[in-house]
Amino acid sequence: MKLWGGRFTKPTNQLVDEYTASIYFDKKLAKYDIQGSIAHVGMLKACGIIPEADADTIAAGLAIVAKKINAGEAVLTAENEDIHMNVEKLLIEEIGAIGGKLHTGRSRNDQVALDMRLYLREAIIEIAQLIGTVQESLLNQAKSNLETVMPGYTHLQRAQPVLFGHHMMAYVFMFQRDVERLMDSFKRVNKSPLGAGALAGTTFPINRQLVAEKLGFFGISENSLDAVSDRDFVVEFLANASLISTHLSRLCEEIVQWSSAEFNFVELDDAFSTGSSMMPQKKNPDVAELVRGKTGRVYGHLMGMLTTLKGLPLAYNKDMQEDKEGMFDTVETLRGALALFAPMIETMQVKKEKMYAAVRKDFSNATDLADYLVGKGMPFRESHAVVGQVVLACINDKKYLLDMSLEEFQSYSNLVEADIFDVLTPEAVVNARNVAGGTAKNRVEEQITTAIAAMKENNNWIQLQTKAIQV
Ligand code: ARG
Repeated sequence: MKLWGGRFTKPTNQLVDEYTASIYFDKKLAKYDIQGSIAHVGMLKACGIIPEADADTIAAGLAIVAKKINAGEAVLTAENEDIHMNVEKLLIEEIGAIGGKLHTGRSRNDQVALDMRLYLREAIIEIAQLIGTVQESLLNQAKSNLETVMPGYTHLQRAQPVLFGHHMMAYVFMFQRDVERLMDSFKRVNKSPLGAGALAGTTFPINRQLVAEKLGFFGISENSLDAVSDRDFVVEFLANASLISTHLSRLCEEIVQWSSAEFNFVELDDAFSTGSSMMPQKKNPDVAELVRGKTGRVYGHLMGMLTTLKGLPLAYNKDMQEDKEGMFDTVETLRGALALFAPMIETMQVKKEKMYAAVRKDFSNATDLADYLVGKGMPFRESHAVVGQVVLACINDKKYLLDMSLEEFQSYSNLVEADIFDVLTPEAVVNARNVAGGTAKNRVEEQITTAIAAMKENNNWIQLQTKAIQV
């Protein structure tokens, strides 16, 4: 007999059972479901809603059910539809009819919202922490490459030289925003919906605040209809995950390019590369490619969730059961990518000489020649045109600015003096960008200091919240 079988005269069609069941995937919520139930029953006892002895029997029974599920000894069935009813059935099997008192003053609608929040708040902390390890590896690469000059690109055309450390720090700050978004979203996740009941609240004199405190929530949801129909926190997480994936994917794309013979700027460690079954010479950046590829499924989950919610009337609708698989898959996808990324970046070999050689053979110091002329009094628009002509001539003669003689420079402008050769070296060009946030070595060092402070804040938050949600 179903837990809700009272008003039915026939058993459910088996296909309906299988189709509507969520146990196949929401069994991942078992731990949280039981945490929530133990807090709930503790509150029922404290408020005198059920006898103390019954509450204690239920709490003890739930602990046994948790153990059995963990050990794989519990049978979870589609007839019992979801994790909530499976746990309740197992509890009743364990302790008898008293187990039926657990669901007093509660609905699966507020229960599932609770479980989702308990799961997600843990996942958010874990992902923030994993991003921290990636930031750390990027930061270490930045520290080791404070003098490594590489071509900087716009339109994937060589633009101006930058330090490889500067490039690494760009990603550190992108990931910093990701962590900040996660921390901010946490405020909206970490609220207890329990007590909303099916949609309107409950007739029992429950204490919502007490349950929230037992579970380490910041507070309680303000409106029962909203509490059971809100999945904004899932959407927000998927949106944040999408941006994290975007950032990972852009870095992946660069790593794939840099690993090619055409760039030859980095070499991934053998432990983080794969071979070809046919071509013996191949060393492929498969991890970077796959992380880039998996971005698609994360975006897909975001679109899926938004679409599921669109047009749903208040309050709970069965459609909302579709909130789980995308969220779980997103957490697992990010977990996998981030865990690999930190050691992959850490062990990536940076080919400093190749980067330097590339910079030496391009016109990425052209802006500096123009700026030099401006320094001598020429209007920038004019110097831009003069340097354009110099570059054109060099291309014809198959040479670069530093291959020109002083006389050749002076044939374009007599403002050029011998110091031009110090101005146009890759090192000078980089260090001339001595503006806050610029690529000059001391400015990159400043960025490192700023990032370290921010990352320390992240870690403080992670430690604080990890403790706060321990139940
Ligand atoms: N399995 C359901 C879900 O995941 C739990 C809530 C079901 N509530 C209901 N009244 N059918 O959304």
